[in-house]
Amino acid sequence: MKDIYEPAADLIANAHIDAAGYKEKYAASVADPEAFWAEEAKRLDWIKAPTKIKNTTFAYPDVSIKWFEDGELNVAANCIDRHLETRPDQTAIIWEPDDPQEDAQHITYRDLHANVCRMANVLKDLGVGKGDRVILYMPMIPQAAYAMLACARIGAIHSVVFAGFSSDALANRINGSQAKVVITSDGAPRGGKATNLKDNVNQALLHCDDSVQCLVVKRTGQQIAWRSENDIWLHEAEASVADTCAPEPMNAEDPLFILYTSGSTGMPKGVVHTTGGYLLYAAMTHQYTFDYHDGDVFWCTADVGWVTGHSYIVYGPLANGATTVMFEGVPTWPDASRFWQVCEKHKVTQFYTAPTAIRALMGKGAKWVEGSDLSSVRILGTVGEPINPEAWTWYNDVVGKGKCPIVDTWWQTETGGHLITPLPGAIPTKPGSATVPFFGVQPEVLDAATGEIQTQTEAEGVLVIKDSWPGQMRTVWGDHNRFVKTYFADYKGYYFSGDGCRRDADGYYWITGRVDDVINVSGHRMGTAEVESALVAHSAVSEAAVVGFPHEIKGQGIYCYVTLMDGREPSDELRAELQNHVRAEIGPIAKPDVIQWAPGLPKTRSGKIMRRILRKIAENDYGALGDTSTLADPSVVDDLIANRADG
Ligand code: WTA
Repeated sequence: MKDIYEPAADLIANAHIDAAGYKEKYAASVADPEAFWAEEAKRLDWIKAPTKIKNTTFAYPDVSIKWFEDGELNVAANCIDRHLETRPDQTAIIWEPDDPQEDAQHITYRDLHANVCRMANVLKDLGVGKGDRVILYMPMIPQAAYAMLACARIGAIHSVVFAGFSSDALANRINGSQAKVVITSDGAPRGGKATNLKDNVNQALLHCDDSVQCLVVKRTGQQIAWRSENDIWLHEAEASVADTCAPEPMNAEDPLFILYTSGSTGMPKGVVHTTGGYLLYAAMTHQYTFDYHDGDVFWCTADVGWVTGHSYIVYGPLANGATTVMFEGVPTWPDASRFWQVCEKHKVTQFYTAPTAIRALMGKGAKWVEGSDLSSVRILGTVGEPINPEAWTWYNDVVGKGKCPIVDTWWQTETGGHLITPLPGAIPTKPGSATVPFFGVQPEVLDAATGEIQTQTEAEGVLVIKDSWPGQMRTVWGDHNRFVKTYFADYKGYYFSGDGCRRDADGYYWITGRVDDVINVSGHRMGTAEVESALVAHSAVSEAAVVGFPHEIKGQGIYCYVTLMDGREPSDELRAELQNHVRAEIGPIAKPDVIQWAPGLPKTRSGKIMRRILRKIAENDYGALGDTSTLADPSVVDDLIANRADG
């Protein structure tokens, strides 16, 4: 395995930026952010160009982030209308259905405009206006993108809920955002099986205000339970609306969307992104990180339920007038060649996926890759979790045939777009490193305990960002205080990412994973507190503590320590019941991998569970248990080690 990979000469020659260009542009971006971002803002079509560029402070507790605050624009107009003059017949979205036997769709910018306008008019007819919230709970179908853009067009705030989440999780988000409308489909085909999404919505709506309306896309035609009062078929509603709809002028700081994401404490919080800064940052990172050029076919395999789908399936690519692939299926159905078949079929030029998918496909063997013609692919990307060098090398050698740079992009729901990433043609890569900061991003490494800034190049600690960038989240929906506390209270003056990292002698960043109680399971972010609260909601459980542990495919697995109520006995049946219970409460992605019966949990005398110890036991790393003398009852640790469950 090589330590460093230089970009090929022909790639450098054609790339948007080379090594010297990166250095120069990065230096300019941090020397004078106002001037830099004023210039970059010209990428967007403004109804009223901003004169105020940056007005941000990380000073605790007065954190406030505003970009382009007197500018006006509309996101849908930027993603669609402005391309109608230059590229009306170019494909905006290639939709590849779950079943390869079903026809793919090529939706041009002209079609996109008409579809988005129709949906926007339907939403208006349902009484949705500027600032109202709309929940999307949808499969990966073009209507999901239409719905996002339709909301943006009329100034409504969308909140996409991953269709793999349970009805309880959905209800919490409908209520949390006080949404007026839920957009869903009858069923969601994935891997040859259809989930009845509408049933989940019906279940959720039992816990919501009676006024919430439900707009339903016909996808599978399967039987669904219809609520006659508040359900509307999209195709019926669209029959009587116009296919034009004037875009609503929005202030740059008006919210564009809310996306719920897990944190270390409590229930998921609604991350708020706004209009101008977010779109600019998504568009710019999409162009540079993937070296996107006109004529490319860009494929991000994420789901629109995650931020990656927002920024790199919908907003970034469409703002750039790109052709973006939307894939409804899974990597392993009908077989493990599906990704590569789709790359061949649509002549994909940039391919962007998660390490967990790479590891799973690597496990199936190279033969599944070899049957497909991948000669169109120029750039490979990864996101969501640290990529181990073995998977990186397999991706590079077997998928990229050694000629495609791999962009390992580090970022978060909160950051809107890539913060640390190589740029092809400019930054040599090292397997496992996200490399160097994007323009305008100033990472620092702090000592985790003291908060002291590490000034030497080689350093290890927690990763923070020193100053704002336009794509940064602005607040937590309905709880600005929580925003300030979560990200700015621990290390004053900085945005705290929640990740640990190492910086090497070349100034490259290596993300080591979360340092808080967030775990990353198959690239899906989850709070251990959410799993715990699902477990204790079961009548047999008196107490539960959940930690992550290393998992070969998923990156991290979910390890649960469960204390039962008096009178309840451990059994394999109960274990399976609890696993299914969590699955039902949160969704299949949260199903525990391991449940260990724990007669007692290691607690301090003040009653605080010492997770550090539980993590070490789950990792099978007893030598490093550290100081257990502050425990109220140190003997529980011996018991947990003796009865460790196998992961
Ligand atoms: C992790 C996904 C290592 C990290 C865009 C972060 C990564 C969390 C990488 C955010 C990467 C994301 N290398 N770790 N390239 N990208 N992460 O909000 O722990 O779903 O804090 O956003 O994923 O997850 P989220």
